[in-house]
Amino acid sequence: MRTLRTRVAIVGAGPAGLMLSHLLHRSGIESVVVDHRTHEQIATTIRAGILEAGSVRLLVDSGVSDRVVTEGDRHDGVVLRFDDENHRIDFQDLVGESVWLYPQTDVFLDLAARRKADGGDVRYGVSDTAVDIGDRPAMTFTDSDGVATRVEAELLIGADGSHSICRRAIPPGIRTEWFREYPFAWFGFLAEAPQSHPELIYTRSAHGFALISQRTPAMQRMYFQCSPDERVEDWSEDRIWAEMRKRVNGNGFELNEGPISGAMVLPFRSFVTAPMRHGRMLLAGDAAHTVPPTGAKGLNLALADVRVLHEVITEFLADGDEDVLGVYTDRALDRVWKAQHFSYWMTTMLHSAAGATAFDIERQRGELSLITGSRHGAAYLAEAYTGWQHSK
Ligand code: DHB
Repeated sequence: MRTLRTRVAIVGAGPAGLMLSHLLHRSGIESVVVDHRTHEQIATTIRAGILEAGSVRLLVDSGVSDRVVTEGDRHDGVVLRFDDENHRIDFQDLVGESVWLYPQTDVFLDLAARRKADGGDVRYGVSDTAVDIGDRPAMTFTDSDGVATRVEAELLIGADGSHSICRRAIPPGIRTEWFREYPFAWFGFLAEAPQSHPELIYTRSAHGFALISQRTPAMQRMYFQCSPDERVEDWSEDRIWAEMRKRVNGNGFELNEGPISGAMVLPFRSFVTAPMRHGRMLLAGDAAHTVPPTGAKGLNLALADVRVLHEVITEFLADGDEDVLGVYTDRALDRVWKAQHFSYWMTTMLHSAAGATAFDIERQRGELSLITGSRHGAAYLAEAYTGWQHSK
């Protein structure tokens, strides 16, 4: 067994793990990051595309990359569409903020390139990862060169996604978990076509929810509500476009169509675990919480965790006071539950639930009218969508 020592061992080389490793490096703290996926696998998994203003500032101010502002697209608003009418929520006017359309895969590429340029120790494609969460935490794995390796550290970080092995290392009696399932999923796909609209459109229709998002001027990303057991292979291009037209077209608005790729079914789940710290191990991002995709909070929440985690870790490593680690859960959870509520709320406001009564449908229309027809209602959505600036 090859044994290495570092200060912080990080399981997971997605945006949360890499951002933390990067911020620690800037504070003079070394870390080792491992991931069972290869660089190629992470870089080619299509994920969400919207960054809150605070996420963009973190990427730019910490020197990861300015590609997000030079190549990303600033969006000053979104559209809620219902009853065949578009209602724009103007973020700049309402809260003086914006979001950026910049795919998560690009955030990963920027972070991976920055860690590489800074000589960071990031190991992709490892296998058999296990963690030891005692007083001297460690992670063991088979490295990509086949050598069994043990990394001992002062702190262990679980940034290893919703199937986290780190979370599962916390004894069940200590964890509290909150969980909610939804009776629907999203069918997501890429369309090679020009933009249909300059901003994102979240649509509620009698046939179910649809979202028009973007990737590049020639490539669009779209989603429509489907059943959780929907199979991608049952959907021809014609069938997909027929479904989209039913939900979105009308009253002078028409989608631009084109060849389809990257189709997938995205499950919906709300999940939170607490505490997010056990002894010398701390969890970040999807390892501790997942949100349904409506509103694109997942990556943003992971980066917000990491911002807090970086502060807590640097303070702890400077003076060794374990009480400092104890504040992490409360500080992170405040934002986690706000984002949980927002994602749940956007989901239930815009999706059609099987078995909805006539009352439920009219009430949902009333809710949309309240949000789009009132400056206060619209500002509530705008503040949450662009990211709560003044929260802990
Ligand atoms: C995208 C995904 C989302 O979940 C969302 O709310 C907005 C945009 C996207 O993939 O572009």
